[in-house]
Amino acid sequence: MHDSGMPPKPDLRPAGEPFSPAAGIPDQAIEAAMKARSTQQALLVEVNAALAAAVDAEEVLSQILALLTDRIRLINAAIYLLDVERGELRCIAQAGHLNLEPFRKLQMDGPGLVAWAARSREGAYAADVSEDPRYLAVDPRAKAEYAVPLVVGSTLVGVLDIQSAHVDGIRAVTRKLIDQFASQAAMAIERSELYKKLRASEQRFRSVFEQSPLGVALCDLEGRFFETNTALTQALGYDAGELRGRSYLDITHPDDRPRSLENSNSLRAGAADHFTLDQRYVRKSGKAIWCNTMVSLVRDSAGKPAYLLLIIQDTAEQRQAEEERARLQEQLFQAQKMQALGTLAGGVAHDFNNLLGVILGYVSLVRTRLTPEDPMQETVARMEQSANRAAELTHQLLEFSRQEKPLLQPLEIGKVLSSVLTMVTQTFDRRIRVEARVPPELPWVAGDPGQLELAILNLCINARDAMREGGPLSLEASAVTLEPGLLPPDAQGPPGRYVRVVIRDSGAGMEPEVLQRVFEPFFTTKQAGKGSGLGLAMVYGIVSRHGGFIGVRSQPGRGSEFILHLPVVSPPEQSAVEEAPLAAEHGTGTVLVVDDEPLMLSFAADAARELGYEVLAAEDGARARAVASSYTGRIDIILLDMIMPGDGWAETLHALQALSPQARVIVTSGYSSVRESRRALAEGAAAFIGKPYTIDALARILKVVRPAGPGRSVNPPPSRTA
Ligand SMILES: Nc1ncnc2c1ncn2[C@@H]1O[C@H](COP(=O)(O)OP(=O)(O)OP(=O)(O)O)[C@@H](O)[C@H]1O
Ligand SMILES: [Mg+2]
Repeated sequence: MHDSGMPPKPDLRPAGEPFSPAAGIPDQAIEAAMKARSTQQALLVEVNAALAAAVDAEEVLSQILALLTDRIRLINAAIYLLDVERGELRCIAQAGHLNLEPFRKLQMDGPGLVAWAARSREGAYAADVSEDPRYLAVDPRAKAEYAVPLVVGSTLVGVLDIQSAHVDGIRAVTRKLIDQFASQAAMAIERSELYKKLRASEQRFRSVFEQSPLGVALCDLEGRFFETNTALTQALGYDAGELRGRSYLDITHPDDRPRSLENSNSLRAGAADHFTLDQRYVRKSGKAIWCNTMVSLVRDSAGKPAYLLLIIQDTAEQRQAEEERARLQEQLFQAQKMQALGTLAGGVAHDFNNLLGVILGYVSLVRTRLTPEDPMQETVARMEQSANRAAELTHQLLEFSRQEKPLLQPLEIGKVLSSVLTMVTQTFDRRIRVEARVPPELPWVAGDPGQLELAILNLCINARDAMREGGPLSLEASAVTLEPGLLPPDAQGPPGRYVRVVIRDSGAGMEPEVLQRVFEPFFTTKQAGKGSGLGLAMVYGIVSRHGGFIGVRSQPGRGSEFILHLPVVSPPEQSAVEEAPLAAEHGTGTVLVVDDEPLMLSFAADAARELGYEVLAAEDGARARAVASSYTGRIDIILLDMIMPGDGWAETLHALQALSPQARVIVTSGYSSVRESRRALAEGAAAFIGKPYTIDALARILKVVRPAGPGRSVNPPPSRTA
């Protein structure tokens, strides 16, 4: 392709000088040409050569017409171009001194020799214009006129018209010369018209090429750039000059080059006509960018491979959007999985917890009936130990699976961390160097201190287990603001202010397969009996219920990092309620036990009886009310299960208090946490006991709410009885 996009214009003139006939075609030669045919031919050959090289015919034709008028002693010469659509003949070149302006356009069907020649497609000679009816008077000096149609093949292109100041001033020999010139001029005009169309078309395509939002380039068959558009140079960060002559493979990322080369080779070998690749280019700055690249082989008219057309699209944004979508999907999937597992585990754990409560209860009952020397003592102790361990596990499961939000109170995370630190530094192997970075002035978070402590402690225990050889274990806390666009990849919460807690170990780290599943309940890599796989599931549950989120980063051999984010809240106005202290012993009085779980009900009843109390039992709220109304004034303590079918436990509690205002209520629940106990106390209960409980624990709590001896004023019943 030519640089300017256009071949050079031929110039009949010697360089740097205005046109002078003497300079191009000598006077004597033209004189001779008028006389001898061979010399005429010589003139024609020269004129033709000039025409053949002409791209813009109009300019060259005007110069040739000037030469002709001068040498053949004409007064006017003009060339008209046919505009078929308008039926007009338009003057495009002219020599002579006549002002042709009024006659620049002639109608095909109008008067005059020019129109006549166009219509008839024959030369029209008026030897004496005053005698010729076809003549249209344009120049009063004109005495003779000759009009010749310009025809290419069978197409009329225009008309050549000459005029002489002498009657019969255009001789046959001159007309013959003009005829020959006309046929050359016709071809030159047609070529020039074609060229103009081509140029317009080239301009159209160039603007499409230039303005394309996609990067477009033309490369030779070796892949070397020779034309590039702006979108392409911008995407790649080079200017057009820097790219010219370089192969696109040169700037392809080394990792993607083999694939790209393979595709280019098969293109060149003719195995394919195009290929599309997602590949990286290295920008001038050195930065790699992902682009969708399409390379097509362009063939010439003979079907031979001519060059390559390269179209590239920067896909960074698209990729980013796809990655973001995949991340959100994965997050959603994880959240759904955890929820499903939670529901499942919760259901199992709840039933299991009740059964354990019964086992544990009866085991403790059996123990109280054995003398200290009884050979069964040890067996029973083992049973109790195992049941306790099982209860711990179900408790963790329940922690993980509970769906409701915990009762959160503003707290200083620093206090939670320092209590964990105390435990950790005192109990962990000395080779584990615990490093804490906890600034004194951290913002407050909303939380349940017990649960958060449990969560962080679990993370530390996992870290310890991963550091068999010891090493640094760091605990860090800081205040962070997560900006909308800058959430960490594992962030599941909204943007805002958080306290970030990072527990980082220098232990074994995790393989990606492990890393993916760490939060699943029962997922463990530890030996049977060493780990339950519930630790992180519980941590996950606790952190989620605190409105926070947890993420993990780890590499095998490089340690692990668990990152917690807890939302910041404003500091509290009042301090939390303390729980009632407990003591143990046998007692007297009447206890109403309400529980929908028959085994639990009978254990609680048996245990209370064993402790010296009179026992009444009811398996739901309605029956409890019936009992309470028939024992008005005789019930001292009500042991009420929090989760019961039928009316809510709180309603039952209030109804029973109305029926037995003197009775103290102890609420029990499988969800044994500060939160439940606080709820129970808030509803008017005197105490709370978590399930499963032993007979000793029951003894203590019964004793607390109903102290022996005179007066029941240790913990007066709340006024709320309605
Ligand atoms: N800091 C850590 N470094 C390396 N691996 C870890 C780390 N924390 C957890 N893991 C991996 O994740 C698994 C699951 O941890 P999780 O705390 O849920 O259960 P566990 O520790 O195996 O058992 P449990 O905590 O119930 O006693 C672990 O078995 C271990 O493979
Ligand atoms: Mg663990």
